[in-house]
Parts: sequence; structure tokens; C-alpha cells
Amino acid sequence: MNASQVPQIAELEKLCFSDPWSEQSIASELENPLSLWLVAVEAGEVVGYVGSQTVLGETDMMNLAVAPEARRQGTGRALVLALVEALKEKESHSLMLEVRASNIPAQKLYASLGFSQVGRRPKYYSNPREDALILRKEWSV
Ligand SMILES: CC(C)(COP(=O)(O)OP(=O)(O)OC[C@H]1O[C@@H](n2cnc3c(N)ncnc32)[C@H](O)[C@@H]1OP(=O)(O)O)[C@@H](O)C(=O)NCCC(=O)NCCS
Repeated sequence: MNASQVPQIAELEKLCFSDPWSEQSIASELENPLSLWLVAVEAGEVVGYVGSQTVLGETDMMNLAVAPEARRQGTGRALVLALVEALKEKESHSLMLEVRASNIPAQKLYASLGFSQVGRRPKYYSNPREDALILRKEWSV
């Protein structure tokens, strides 16, 4: 991710999530040495992104989204796979994330990439209130 892409990412956040990150919070990730955000670009436009933070070899995926018109073309899968490859270079050995219990498309994507459920956080999300499933994938470095 670079600074010029932040406004487009903030627009996609608003489109894809009921509790979107602000443009300012996304921009601050560029200054955070723990953060790694990857962006999928098509014809100069941001069509997807994944954001992560790594602490002591454990990475949290904070968001993943693909523009509605660009879905089901392999972009979400490619973003997560590219993130895992980049994290290996940073000596991370695991990736954890939360997903809404009702978000079947995302759960199918994560299952196909080898994530397993390791927990559940009751009423974690608001708008609407809903449990989060905690998923994790690990690898050897
Ligand atoms: C989840 C999301 C990122 C997937 O992005 P995508 O680019 O459409 O995903 P891909 O094309 O790489 O799909 C990979 C696999 O995920 C599964 N999948 C994706 N969308 C699906 C859907 N609507 N229904 C069922 N399975 C789906 C399928 O297994 C798919 O493989 P296939 O197309 O070979 O069947 C996208 O739907 C999105 O942005 N959703 C809104 C935001 C969101 O929920 N983010 C995740 C938060 S945890």
C-alpha cells in the first residue's frame, strides 16, 4: 500500500463493512513498522486489499476486502496467499483473524486456504451484533 491508495481503500472500507476504518487510521498504518498492507490494483484502481500487524512472529489479519464488482475472480485468495508469502520473509509463523459467524463467503475462502477455527468471541461485532469466529493458519519458517 502507498499513500496515494489510501483514499480508495477508505472508500472500499465504507462499501464493504458496517464499522469501517477511517482514512486517517488506514494512513497511519503506513507509519507503523508492525503493519503490512497489500493492495490489488487493476487498471490503476484499487480493487482489493488486506491489512495485517505482526507482533513477535504472530500476525493478525485486520481486514480483507475486494470491490463488489471484482469478486469471485481469485483476488481475495491471491491477496491472502501473497500476504502469507510476505510474512514468511518477516519471520512470522502464523496468521489469525476474526470473521463474522454469518460471513459464509469469507469462511469458505479461509477454509480453502487451510485456516482452522480456534475459538469464538460471543457478540464481538456490532451493526449487527454477532459472534466472531477466530481462525488461524500456521506454517514453518
Ligand atoms: C470475502 C472476500 C474478500 C472474497 O474475495 P473474492 O476475491 O471474491 O474471493 P476469491 O474470488 O478469491 O474466492 C476464493 C474462494 O472463496 C470462496 N468464496 C468467495 N466468495 C464466495 C461466495 N460469495 N460464496 C461462496 N464462496 C465464496 C470460494 O471458495 C472461492 O473459490 P471459487 O471461486 O474457486 O469457488 C469478498 O467477498 C469481500 O470483500 N467480502 C466483503 C468483505 C469481507 O467479508 N471481508 C472478510 C472479512 S473477515
